[in-house]
Amino acid sequence: MTWPTLLLLLVVAAAGLLRWRRPAWYWLTFGVTFAILRVLVCYTSVMEACDLTVPPSRWRLALARTFDRPAPEHRAPRILRLRPTRTGLVLRLKLRPGQDAFDVAAASDRLRHSFGMYGVTSRELRSGVVELRMTGYDVLKRVQMPAKVDTRPMRVPVALRADGSVHYRDYRVVPHGLTLGATESGKSVYQRNLVAGLAPQQVALVGIDCKQGVELFPLARRFSALADNPDSALELLEALVSHMADVYQLIRSEQRITADVPDAEIAADIWDLPEDIRPVPIVVLVDEVAELALFTTKEEEKRRDRIITALVRLAQLGRAAGIYLEICGQRFGSELGKGITMLRAQLTGRTAHRVNDETSANMAFGDIAPDAVLAAIQIPAEIRGLAIAGDSTGGWHRIRAPHTSLRQAVNVCNKYAHLTPDLPALAPFRPALGTLAPVPAQAPAVESAPAAA
Ligand SMILES: Nc1ncnc2c1ncn2[C@@H]1O[C@H](COP(=O)(O)OP(=O)(O)OP(=O)(O)O)[C@@H](O)[C@H]1O
Ligand SMILES: [Mg+2]
Repeated sequence: MTWPTLLLLLVVAAAGLLRWRRPAWYWLTFGVTFAILRVLVCYTSVMEACDLTVPPSRWRLALARTFDRPAPEHRAPRILRLRPTRTGLVLRLKLRPGQDAFDVAAASDRLRHSFGMYGVTSRELRSGVVELRMTGYDVLKRVQMPAKVDTRPMRVPVALRADGSVHYRDYRVVPHGLTLGATESGKSVYQRNLVAGLAPQQVALVGIDCKQGVELFPLARRFSALADNPDSALELLEALVSHMADVYQLIRSEQRITADVPDAEIAADIWDLPEDIRPVPIVVLVDEVAELALFTTKEEEKRRDRIITALVRLAQLGRAAGIYLEICGQRFGSELGKGITMLRAQLTGRTAHRVNDETSANMAFGDIAPDAVLAAIQIPAEIRGLAIAGDSTGGWHRIRAPHTSLRQAVNVCNKYAHLTPDLPALAPFRPALGTLAPVPAQAPAVESAPAAA
């Protein structure tokens, strides 16, 4: 065997190994070149096979007839741009007269296997211009966020979308969010990613974790207030409502100064206030929300009503005061009592992890994107963290957050602990630091498994 043949065999074996074990590396080394060549060489024939060509126009036919030339061929959309990305290719097309974006969307599955790509999605950029985003491999199998992401205040790159783009949770565009999912579907990991993304920003984090604080209390150093049971959650939410009233008073007092000044911007929310007096925005994270709405006694029922009222008030009025809600739960429907559907209606950002039934998926998307309901039910149980994220525009995406362990999130929170603002209104709920978690007076009534002999 000659040296060149041996070298070629080695390269082919390396490419095969990479493709199998490290598809992201394969894409960056070999895949991208092959894919660009395949798209450019096969473009016209693929478009023809996918029914995305138009017959020649009358004047081209007339010209061909006049000059006795062969009849012109059908024409495919014009390629405006072909851009390789970290995960695939972006192809921008100018449609021919008579074609529309729906034709391309309907053909995306045919395009996917004709071009040998893993996934193809299309969207219309402007009239007659369509962008095809193609992924070279399953980007959600092992989520790797790009090193360079576009971070802005109150905007967190929280997950990767199936088309390879980054999914942001932007609190200034979508103030309140609801995350649903069956048990072990990845809600808390998603929320942990949010906390880790928000930790380096100028923001106060407030947590309500009715699972006795197991998810959020380890992150306590970056939290300005925490509650681990419905009683303290009620006090905390009412303190937030009165903090919200104080912020509105501040905005009012600022308006009085600027209203007389012609052409001046009049403050209507905290972001219009000068930076030196602007109150710090607050993100309220609630894990296992159903715990706040369940009751067995009359007293608990009264407490539940007050909690839901406070949440509804925060959801209705909180945005301008810089208070944003991020609610997680397994189900969040009318069976949890009055006020729940009203609260849900205020939660614009919807994310559904794997759900066990259509009713649960309907709680997230039934009222905004019915086709996302089907997608949420189809999430396989073994791919934890896979979710459908939608918004009020009716659009939705398949997303998956990176697997951030509790240890990694704790490290991030500890690193940015100095950014934790002290909010006087929430001071009683500030978690005690520097001590170990309080040891219960009595030994917990659980038995550990006997050690193996
Ligand atoms: N994005 C992800 N990537 C990989 N694994 C994940 C992801 N999200 C969750 N998991 C796995 O699923 C397990 C359960 O996740 P998580 O605790 O977030 O579920 P949950 O929906 O909060 O469950 P519960 O309702 O019981 O609290 C995690 O321990 C982790 O191993
Ligand atoms: Mg959880």
